Amino acid sequence: MSKVTQISHPLILHKLSIIRDKNTGSKDFRDLVEEVAMLMAYEVTRDINLEEVEIETPICTTKCKMLSGKKLAIVPILRAGLGMVGGMLKLIPAAKVGHIGLYRDEKTLKPVEYFCKLPQDIGEREVIVTDPMLATGGSSSDAITLLKKRGAKSIRLMCLIAAPEGIEAVRQSHPDVDIYVASIDEKLNENGYIVPGLGDAGDRLFGTK
Ligand code: PRP
Ligand code: URA
Repeated sequence: MSKVTQISHPLILHKLSIIRDKNTGSKDFRDLVEEVAMLMAYEVTRDINLEEVEIETPICTTKCKMLSGKKLAIVPILRAGLGMVGGMLKLIPAAKVGHIGLYRDEKTLKPVEYFCKLPQDIGEREVIVTDPMLATGGSSSDAITLLKKRGAKSIRLMCLIAAPEGIEAVRQSHPDVDIYVASIDEKLNENGYIVPGLGDAGDRLFGTK
């Protein structure tokens, strides 16, 4: 079964509280989502492989470590996942970025796919799927299924806030995918929103409601 890691660093929890506040406007919301994603990226990439390289410092030649093997791809689920990409690219500037467009039908709560553009060599990359919200888990599960159909072999999922139901759904459908979250909230409400959550992440990021 996959691993679920809750990244509860004080800086992340502090910023997440401001993100949750309904009085936080779009600009601060965007900045903070980006900052939290950057802090989380540090933990999400903790186990990626290093190789020994030889470097010449101004003083002498020395052996040190650099990232090796699989390259990374960041794949945001549109729209809200986009808000996490900038922060991650600050730490991993060489990563390629794919995009998966899904929206949740408001009545059925089922995800509807409308876009998919991935790096050609996605099968050779360590893929990090980003979405601030893991609610029913439908969107993340479908995005991961799509990635696997396109050849992705190694995938991890990174969300700011998850409902226990969403974590369970992704673990059931993709037991090979590790999940990283900043908070596991209490539950989903009758409209499929995370409680207490932060409301509609896409609308708050882009000011569309
Ligand atoms: C939100 C969110 C996730 C999805 C989570 O996106 O960003 O993608 O809902 O819900 P689920 O786990 O129940 O599938 P939404 O469909 O509102 O689209 P948007 O990002 O374009 O606003
Ligand atoms: N999508 C959101 O943006 N927020 C939720 O709470 C659930 C799904």
